[in-house]
Amino acid sequence: MEQLNNSDVLILAIESSCDETAASVVKNGREVLSNVIYTQIALHTKYGGVVPEIASRKHIEKINQVIEQALQDAGVTLQDITAIAVTYGPGLVGALLVGVAEAKAISFAAGIPLVGVHHISGHISANYIEHKELEPPFVCLVASGGHSHLVLVKDYGEYDIIGRTRDDAAGEAFDKVARAIGLGYPGGPKIDQVSKEGNPEAILFPRAKVAENEYDFSFSGLKSAVLNYLNSCQMRGEPVNQADVAASFQKAVVDVLVEHSLHAVKVYGCNKFAIAGGVASNSSLRAAFERECANRGIEFYHPSPVFCTDNAAMIGVAGYYEFQKGVRHGYDLNAVPNLKL
Ligand code: KG4
Ligand code: ZN
Repeated sequence: MEQLNNSDVLILAIESSCDETAASVVKNGREVLSNVIYTQIALHTKYGGVVPEIASRKHIEKINQVIEQALQDAGVTLQDITAIAVTYGPGLVGALLVGVAEAKAISFAAGIPLVGVHHISGHISANYIEHKELEPPFVCLVASGGHSHLVLVKDYGEYDIIGRTRDDAAGEAFDKVARAIGLGYPGGPKIDQVSKEGNPEAILFPRAKVAENEYDFSFSGLKSAVLNYLNSCQMRGEPVNQADVAASFQKAVVDVLVEHSLHAVKVYGCNKFAIAGGVASNSSLRAAFERECANRGIEFYHPSPVFCTDNAAMIGVAGYYEFQKGVRHGYDLNAVPNLKL
């Protein structure tokens, strides 16, 4: 059993916005007592991407087990829990609804307060888990399958969006290019792996700039450039070097993410920079930020890969700070698929 003090705040967190069914218990905002993730990736692989209907059904099947496991791993019972945090957006509506309905049911049955959490706020908050000294303000790059945001973290749970993608998210570009070069789903980790064997300078793919906002991203032109390159190889009957295409594409994404992010850190005057979201687990991206931040004297923070991709511990951390601010949700809490940060 976990040794608890009366003053300890224990958050039971639930995350089901996409294809991971996850639950976690977080103590006093920064200590993860358990982190259970049931990933559906294998189920969706044969369709080449997440099938929303299948995701919702699987969440329903797994969510009770995952929560029970999280409580058990943490050595606590529902009676020890101070509040329940749940992702209520953005994400797939049917998938979100499973977590939200479950959280409301537990909150009602056990008489525990309910706190709705923004998924991206969760991703950003993942940085607090392993960096106990990290406090706002700092600039954070959130790059996941659905989002690419440059965010100024002004305070806990308080954000200004500095830049965003105009079209595809970074992870989406990874997934689409991976499919085009025959690597399959999920593309990010596969491109990361294959790139290690390739030459990142082999093909010069475009680094898009967005005229109206120097911090915004655009990845659809890069994706088209890769598709055009593959087409022209095919028409000329030339072989495609999969590893070179992967490495050159990855370099183009990393260059743009690094340049825009570190420009924002300079302009916004905070010498602290963090990354978050599934793409933040990319080894080449991490190495580039490691190097460039060291060169410029910027403090660089990143979560371990398990806290970059979807998990409930990050929701527990974000939920803790919301709870401390007095945020409580009622039983009318609904899933909001396009929830704004
Ligand atoms: O944050 P996440 O788990 O889910 C969303 O909120 O979207 O991010 C998933 C995305 C996918 O597009 C996946 O291909 C990408 O993150 N990803 C990666 C890597 N691992 C996951 N992209 C590049 N390199 C990786 N190592
Ligand atoms: Zn996510």
